[in-house]
Amino acid sequence: MAVERLDKLISKILNISRNDAKLLIKKGNVKIDGEIIKKSDIKCDTEKNQIFVNDTACFYKQYRYIMMHKPSGVVCSTDDSDVNVIDILPDDLKCSGLFPGGRLDKDTTGLLIITNDGVFAHKVISPNKNLIKRYLADLAEPLDDDAINTLTSPMTLADGTVVKPAQIKVLSDDKMQIEIGIGEGKYHQVKRMLGAVNNRVVSLHRQSIGSLSLDSSLSVGECRELTQSELDELLQNSDI
Ligand code: URA
Repeated sequence: MAVERLDKLISKILNISRNDAKLLIKKGNVKIDGEIIKKSDIKCDTEKNQIFVNDTACFYKQYRYIMMHKPSGVVCSTDDSDVNVIDILPDDLKCSGLFPGGRLDKDTTGLLIITNDGVFAHKVISPNKNLIKRYLADLAEPLDDDAINTLTSPMTLADGTVVKPAQIKVLSDDKMQIEIGIGEGKYHQVKRMLGAVNNRVVSLHRQSIGSLSLDSSLSVGECRELTQSELDELLQNSDI
């Protein structure tokens, strides 16, 4: 996007209504290239003009890439009546068209990428891209060697779905805490895989998607934008 009406641009940048943007402009709070502009319909070129609101430089970003430390109890589906991951985004990261790339269950915590870039989502985080997603899982039963052999081979789930081998690391002496890595993203895949070896996932936390790990400084429910190098690395590693 390059040239856009000023009120439209301000409403997108600040995630406010067009009317509120018009009001800000009318009150003289908006400058373009150092000059106060009071006309909402003036055209502004985001690649050439510098916009200030209350003397703070504002940048229009067409696409957003957000890392969320997803809390339990929040759904990824935006069609649901439950509180969803878009609802809990901070206002300064909200913009139209955001959706979670790859879903986590309501009770799963951890790394979620939220974006408004459909091409990126398709290239990088869609389930069929085979990017390894790593999860920490607490199990109801110890995971024995037979179960590990089954999980690390192609296996068939209860409904006949065939899934690719998982990568398993046993993390605790009691064999009830594991790291599991899967390339696909089938519905309830980790829970169903563990169910198929007569175990049960008690809690599930996603640690990483491909090269991207959950930022350990993000508390549960917190978000930040991905850095350019995180984005570049994800794109480099996607198998397109
Ligand atoms: N597998 C599951 O079973 N649930 C998730 O949320 C993610 C992967």
